[in-house]
Amino acid sequence: MLVFAVETSCDETSVCIMDSSKRIYSHIIFSQEIHKIHGGVVPELASRAHLEILQKITTQAFKDARKSFDDIDVFAATCGPGLIGPLLIGSTFAKSLAIGADKPFVPINHIESHVLSTTFNNKLEYPHLCLLLTGGHTEMYLLDSQHKMSLIGETLDDALGETFDKVGKLLGLNYPGGPEVEKKALNGNEKAFDLPTPLLNVKNLDFSFSGLKTAVSKIVKDNDLSNDLIANLSASFQLCISKILLKKIQNAQKKLESEFRKIKSLSVVGGVSNNKYITNKIKELFKNTSVKVFFPTKEMRNDNAAMIAWNCVNKNIKSSKNLSFKPNPRLTI
Ligand code: KG4
Ligand code: ZN
Repeated sequence: MLVFAVETSCDETSVCIMDSSKRIYSHIIFSQEIHKIHGGVVPELASRAHLEILQKITTQAFKDARKSFDDIDVFAATCGPGLIGPLLIGSTFAKSLAIGADKPFVPINHIESHVLSTTFNNKLEYPHLCLLLTGGHTEMYLLDSQHKMSLIGETLDDALGETFDKVGKLLGLNYPGGPEVEKKALNGNEKAFDLPTPLLNVKNLDFSFSGLKTAVSKIVKDNDLSNDLIANLSASFQLCISKILLKKIQNAQKKLESEFRKIKSLSVVGGVSNNKYITNKIKELFKNTSVKVFFPTKEMRNDNAAMIAWNCVNKNIKSSKNLSFKPNPRLTI
């Protein structure tokens, strides 16, 4: 089965041609630069940029893959959650190609695709705990199998990627702030600032990051934004985030153990899983334990169409057309 997949839920325009034996014939990710000058994603500009680039990268993807539309068995696209304009553009584009080629269209859930991204390069062991850390979502899922996942914790306010981006903006760094904060933190003293750790001592599995962002903003207001301050604040922020994540993982482990469901593996997925400081802390936590820790391949960490194609491959849907499926900005699993 050969799949053509489209991802346009936010500010990455991406297409992928993949077959059911995991062979990637082509995969293109176009990161929209236009948002950098605004310090965040502007939905209307994202929609326009998707519209401008989608056809070009699709032509390129078919050329790279040496395939034609007739070779494709299934057309897939992200149908939520995400920004409605971008979702409409990507899904309508893929639906139109499906109609033209008289092949099925499969609507794909973006979050489910992030959660399943590590199954592309690993054999997960269940029960499995997945920490989903993106720009729009911060959630914890328990998986009993690839097809059975339940939400067990989530952020009550900002997502972690969004918090990194906001802190980056406060420190005068480029958008997206996540990778920039990570770089600056390398030269900083993580003990320089004692930042708050909201919900740390609450036994539940939910997160809250908005207070942390406010604390950073207060320090920035009260001090000169020197290179030392940027480095120290970035490092202290990352230490604080890692404390919160490790504690919530341990809370989840304890809760599940009390229900006789000891986790056998854990994954961290989404854009924030690029952060080496955070992933090393999580790896350390499970060093010398039987719990295996997994991360997506580099090309499946940020938004990408390969994870959409892979999710579609696993659904193994060949007949249904789903053309009436409406993109939903708040689509849940
Ligand atoms: O998964 P993703 O590409 O998009 C969404 O589905 O939202 O995640 C994007 C987020 C951005 O907020 C970005 O700052 C963050 O991932 N990110 C990072 C790093 N690389 C990307 N956050 C912290 N450290 C990084 N190295
Ligand atoms: Zn995403």
